[in-house]
Amino acid sequence: MSYQNILVETHDKVGLIRLNRPKALNALSDDLMSELGTALLAFDAQDEIGCIIVTGSEKAFAAGADISVMAGFDYMDVFNGEFITRNWETLRRIRKPVLAAVAGYALGGGCELAMMCDFIIAADNAKFGQPEIKLGIIPGAGGTQRLPRAVSKSKAMDLALTARMMDAQEAERAGLVSRIVPADKLMEEAMAAAVTITEMPRQVAMMVKDSVNRAYETTLSEGMKYERALFYSCFATEDQKEGMKAFLEKRPAVFKNA
Ligand code: CAA
Repeated sequence: MSYQNILVETHDKVGLIRLNRPKALNALSDDLMSELGTALLAFDAQDEIGCIIVTGSEKAFAAGADISVMAGFDYMDVFNGEFITRNWETLRRIRKPVLAAVAGYALGGGCELAMMCDFIIAADNAKFGQPEIKLGIIPGAGGTQRLPRAVSKSKAMDLALTARMMDAQEAERAGLVSRIVPADKLMEEAMAAAVTITEMPRQVAMMVKDSVNRAYETTLSEGMKYERALFYSCFATEDQKEGMKAFLEKRPAVFKNA
């Protein structure tokens, strides 16, 4: 498969997708989002792959949806074209862990795309924001929904109403990113995290992802029921037997399904 707007690489069990429209700071055009969805689904279906990284460039993870295209849209274009939902939601269908390695700008749809991933590792030069209000629109790919869940109502309102950017340190304090690393070590650190995940029992990693994501979709008691069902099902796997046996025998586990 050849892509025009992304670069796709496989590193052993890690699938790497790099957004690649450098001249437009990786603005998320319809074509880019379709290619991203195709590449994500392909990695999800590929047996050897255990974890996926989505990244951009040193200057920009992504500076948002493509303004040059949106500028020409009217209501019927976005309504009939199912703008945003049509090909932006593919990421949510991916069952394997997807981590975002973010350097530079993650603005508007770029911030929203990073938030759709399972966790975010930020370079120390990363900048996050929802500046859509300056364009006369509200965030359209989860900025008003995922951001308050990630960083509190107050900070989400601040960012979306004032359009200010938040640096990596503030984003980490607020809980948006899981860790900050030096910009020149971003890919090394992201790859190390991804490799660690690929060494875990695959189905259990997928269950962790599924169960944590459920926490954002349901009540605590329903979420607990969901977690318990998945927890019980772990005991039907060979990898649970091996993981616990290896612990008791004081040796590293050799998982069959890693
Ligand atoms: N769409 C299209 N093109 C974009 C873009 C975007 N979101 N962001 C940047 N570009 C283009 C610029 O137009 C420019 O192109 P030219 O060289 O052809 O003029 C090129 O990328 C470089 O950008 P700048 O010259 O502006 O670079 P800078 O370093 O001076 O500024 C920036 C960087 C602060 C990120 C600035 O580019 C910027 O503010 N970009 C827009 C950010 C934004 O508003 N994002 C929200 C988009 S709406 C959205 O995402 C809706 C949604 O919720 C899904």
